[in-house]
Amino acid sequence: MLVLGIETSCDETSAAVVDENRIRSNIIATQQVHIKYGGVVPEFASRAHVKQLQHIVELALREADCALNNINGIAVTYGPGLAGSLLVGLCFAKGLALRLKIPFIGINHLEGHILATAANEPKQEYPYICLVASGGHTLLVYVAKPLVYEVIGSTIDDAAGEAFDKVAKILGLGYPGGPAVEKAARLGNELAVHFPRALLEPDNLNFSFSGLKTSVLYYVQSLSKDQLITQVNDISASFQKSVSDVLAAKAILAATKYDCKRLILAGGVARNNHLRETFEKTCKNQAIAFAVPSPELCTDNAGMIARAGLMRLAKGEHSDYTLDVFPNLALKT
Ligand code: KG4
Ligand code: ZN
Repeated sequence: MLVLGIETSCDETSAAVVDENRIRSNIIATQQVHIKYGGVVPEFASRAHVKQLQHIVELALREADCALNNINGIAVTYGPGLAGSLLVGLCFAKGLALRLKIPFIGINHLEGHILATAANEPKQEYPYICLVASGGHTLLVYVAKPLVYEVIGSTIDDAAGEAFDKVAKILGLGYPGGPAVEKAARLGNELAVHFPRALLEPDNLNFSFSGLKTSVLYYVQSLSKDQLITQVNDISASFQKSVSDVLAAKAILAATKYDCKRLILAGGVARNNHLRETFEKTCKNQAIAFAVPSPELCTDNAGMIARAGLMRLAKGEHSDYTLDVFPNLALKT
């Protein structure tokens, strides 16, 4: 079975082909048009998807060494995300499915992130806890069996990736913020400034990052321009440590509470090496098996969407042509 995946929920235009065992191709084009605006401009994102989606799909088919006629089903993100961007992918998928007379299925982008580790290793052990840390979401999910999710914690304000992006802006590190903060942090002392760690009460599985961001803002405002230049790496490292400490503590708390011996870290923030190392160390100490997708499968990509689609299509599920985009789609329990 070959499934074509399409992902256009934000500023990555991506197409992938998966079979039952692995990803055959996963083409990801990160739109450059937003850089000079310091964040994603929704209308420009939709236009860029329209312009390049067909070409990206052709590249994905070529790299997978297959023709359109070999594809058995299409998986496409229908939410959450930017309405116009989602619409480009969904319309394209519907049109192609109609022409090829094959089923298509709308996939929740968050399920895609959860299944990113499964993209190249479909046989996973259950149950597990998955922490999805992305630009729009920070979720703790209990996964008892394939395709069944229970959200057990989430952020009450900013997402972890959003905090990285806002702190990068405060520090003048530009966009995209996560990689820029990580780069600066590599040269800094993570113990230089003690930033707060929120909601660490023993029973609380929710997150809060807006106080941390404000604390970085106040700290920066207390510095002169010259002081900021000399301290930017230390502030980045101290902020990154604060986020890593909280995410790891909460994930371990969830694993303990739900008696899970397996933990998966996913979403764009999971690209962060400091965070990956913190999780590795903490899980080892607690005798919990840890898994994290390869970096390109952490940030938005169609490989994870195609895997989710293949798993659902194989169960006999599919969507019908009345399916619409759902910008605020939640993860179904
Ligand atoms: O999953 P993703 O590609 O898109 C959403 O679904 O939101 O995540 C993007 C987020 C951005 O906030 C970005 O700053 C963050 O992931 N990110 C990182 C790193 N790479 C991307 N955060 C920290 N360190 C990184 N290396
Ligand atoms: Zn995402």
